Amino acid sequence: MPEWSYQSDRIFCRVLSSAVLVLFVFFLKVMVNVTYLDASIRRFFPAVENMLYLDSAHQTPLAEPVKAELDRFYDASLQFAGPKCNWLNRIEEVRAQLAGFFGARPEEIAFTKNTSEGLNICANGVAWEPGDNVLLLESEHPNNAYAWLAKRDQGLEVRLVPADKEWADADTFATYIDDRTRAIAISHVMFHSGQRNDIEGIFASVQDRDISVVVDAMQSVGVIPFNVKDIGATALASGSHKGLLTPHGLGFMYTAEPMEELKPSYVSTAGVANARADLLATVDPIELQPNAHRFEIGNFNLPAIHALGGALTLLEQVGVANIEAHAYTLGDQLIEIADRLGIGLVGPREREHRAPHIYVLDVKDPEVASYFAEQNVRLSPVRDGLRVSFGVYSTPEDVESFGSLLHRALDAATLSTASTAI
Ligand SMILES: Cc1ncc(COP(=O)(O)O)c(C=O)c1O
Repeated sequence: MPEWSYQSDRIFCRVLSSAVLVLFVFFLKVMVNVTYLDASIRRFFPAVENMLYLDSAHQTPLAEPVKAELDRFYDASLQFAGPKCNWLNRIEEVRAQLAGFFGARPEEIAFTKNTSEGLNICANGVAWEPGDNVLLLESEHPNNAYAWLAKRDQGLEVRLVPADKEWADADTFATYIDDRTRAIAISHVMFHSGQRNDIEGIFASVQDRDISVVVDAMQSVGVIPFNVKDIGATALASGSHKGLLTPHGLGFMYTAEPMEELKPSYVSTAGVANARADLLATVDPIELQPNAHRFEIGNFNLPAIHALGGALTLLEQVGVANIEAHAYTLGDQLIEIADRLGIGLVGPREREHRAPHIYVLDVKDPEVASYFAEQNVRLSPVRDGLRVSFGVYSTPEDVESFGSLLHRALDAATLSTASTAI
C-alpha cells in the first residue's frame, strides 16, 4: 500500500472515531437532559404530586430551588437586616442573568411589576399625534389591548386586526398598515389558543418603516428559546410567574437603545442619571437614565427578583430548548388522544405555528371546570375551549391520566364536546 494511502486511512480512522465520540457525547447529553426533565426536575415541584397540574399557562407551581432563594432572602432579613447593599448587588447579578437568558444587555432590562406595566410603559411613553395608529390582533390579551385602547383619548387610533388564520404573520397586518402606523403590539404566544405568532417575520416586514414591534412574551419566555435581537422586537414585556417560575408580582421589560423617544410616565431616583449623591432633589433639569433603567421607580421587589435568579439558574441547567422539545412531545401525545376522542384542537396543529405547551381543546361544556376540579385536575377553561398547559415537570403519565378522565366523562355523558357549546 503506498505511504500516502496508509496515512490517509489513519487520518480517516481518527476522524471517524472522533466523530463517533462526539455523537456519543451528544447522545449522552440529550439522554441526560431528557431523564432530568422526566424525573429529577419533577421532584422540585411538590405541588404536582398533590394534583394533576395542567395549568402552566395560568401560573407555575413554586419549585424548591426558587423557594430556597426566597428562604435565603428572608433569613438574611431576619438575622442581618440585609444589608440592602448586598441585596442590590444581587439585583444587578439577576438583571445580567435575565438579559443573557434571551440575548439582551443588562442596560436594556427594566424590572417591572408585571407584563401590563411593561406594555403600558410603551403605550404611554410616546407622544402620539392625533391620527397615529397602532395595530393589535382582535383576539389579543386584554392586558395588552387596554394599554393601547386607553390612549385613544390622545388621538391614537387602535386598529383591531382579525386573525383569519390560526396564527399571525406579516401578511396578517399588511393591509392594515399605512403611513400613520406607529406600532404593532402582539403576543408572541396567544393565551387563548396557543398560537405562536411569527414575530420575526412581522418585524422583518416593517423594519424599514418607522413602526415599532412591541411583544408580550408572557406565554413564551422560559418555554420557547428565543434571542430578542433575532426576533427583532423593539420592546418586549413579560411577567415572571409562568415560564420564569417565579411568584406573582414581578415582571420585566426589554427595550433596545437608543431610548430618546420612549419617556417614562413615572420618575423617581432610580430613573434619573444626574440624581445627587446627597439625595437632594433640585430644580436642575432632569437627565433621565439613557437606557431601560429610566423606567424603574422606587424600591425593587427584592425577594421576587432574588427568586428569579434561582429560577433562571434552574432553567439554564435544564435548557429552554429541552423544555420546548419536552412540551412538544407531550403536545403530540395530547393531540393524538384528542383525535381518538373526536375532539378538535382550537389552535394550530403544526409545531411551527403552535406554542409547545398550550393546547386548547374544543370542549365548551359549562360543567367542564367543576368536573375537572372534582377530579383534582388543575386546568383553565378559556374563551374558545378547555386549555391544557404543560410545564417542565409534566410527564406522559399526566397526559394519559387526563385523557382517561376526559374519555370517562364523555362516555358517561358527564361532559359533551363542542356541539353543546356554551
Ligand atoms: C399573553 C399574556 N399577557 C399578559 C398576561 C398577564 O399580564 P400581567 O403579567 O400584567 O398580569 C397573561 C396571563 O396572565 C397573558 O397570557
